[in-house]
Amino acid sequence: MALKKVGILTGGGDCSGLNAVIRGVTRTAIIGYKAEVVGIEGGFEGLISGQTQELSIRATRDILTLGGTILGTTNKGNPFEYRELRPDGSISVSDYSDRAMETYKRLGLDCLFVVGGEGTLEIGYKFAKKGAHVIGIPKTIDNDLDKTDYTFGFQTAVEVACDALDRLHTTGKSHQRVMILEVMGRTAGWISMESGIAGGAHIIIIPEIPYNIDRIVEKIKARAKGGSPYSIIMVAEGAKEEGGDVITQATASTRLQGVPQLGGVGSYLAEEIKKRIDLEVRCTVLGHIQRGGSPCAFDRVLGTRLGSHAVRAAAEGNFGNMVALKMPDIVLVPLADLAGKVRVVPVDSQLIQCAEAIGISMGR
Ligand code: F6P
Repeated sequence: MALKKVGILTGGGDCSGLNAVIRGVTRTAIIGYKAEVVGIEGGFEGLISGQTQELSIRATRDILTLGGTILGTTNKGNPFEYRELRPDGSISVSDYSDRAMETYKRLGLDCLFVVGGEGTLEIGYKFAKKGAHVIGIPKTIDNDLDKTDYTFGFQTAVEVACDALDRLHTTGKSHQRVMILEVMGRTAGWISMESGIAGGAHIIIIPEIPYNIDRIVEKIKARAKGGSPYSIIMVAEGAKEEGGDVITQATASTRLQGVPQLGGVGSYLAEEIKKRIDLEVRCTVLGHIQRGGSPCAFDRVLGTRLGSHAVRAAAEGNFGNMVALKMPDIVLVPLADLAGKVRVVPVDSQLIQCAEAIGISMGR
């Protein structure tokens, strides 16, 4: 079909590579199809309010190396369940999806590219079911989306976490301390796993394998006995103790988002380890540092390829799909097949076997 006008929005948490996608979509749509490109601002919020900007080759000229998203994003503002804070402190939930559909129609879009993780893509799918022409583009530093080999943003996060571990090694070794690095990863431990191996962590804790503090301490003691009185622990924020639950922070933003904000497992581990050994234990929380900054080359290429391929898929009328990486190609996967699936690190994976084979403790 002839593409005349397409729209793009970025939803959920930001990550490195979003601007590479925006640029890939814009350049392919204009160069290949002479289409107009509209950027919808602030994720689905922009579809409700109608706040947009024109995207041109000029507007996307210098954004390839930029972190974040020039369109803005939010992980609140689901039009189907829009949460607002009432003056009395309670939360109201409204359905603004018809209003968002009106914006989509008023803009006269031939296709809406929805860039996001599992939650954002699920909303995109709901709009597809309401009749919008939607194509999803997978994003998340957590790398936990099903049906794609990698999501962009992940490799950059791994590089950042690996660099942090390299730096923690020097302090750990010089001061004979136990250094803990807490990284993101709600339900999947990919960042913890890959950067832990790359950064020479001695203990890696992931959400998929409940940890036992005594096993962790045994590893630290064994290292000390073997002449290395320091240890590096990598822990994902979503990790759970055997028989325990995730550690969360209570914030106002959490109530509006409707999803608990994780964080604190690293400090908890530090306190518990301190009770059991006579070594200094310190915790560093990497937080949003792993989501920001310039994307690594892999994420620039992946973002560009996904964005460009999405436009081609739209021109061929392949709506209701997500573009995905199935090495070495970009393929199409029905949005319907994603429904609520999260890709975790398989506990019997070669990745975990490899870690344990080289002596890394998984805290079990
Ligand atoms: O889903 C990506 C992610 O970075 C998670 O790893 C993390 O739990 C969450 O987003 C944090 O979101 P926020 O920036 O809203 O705290």
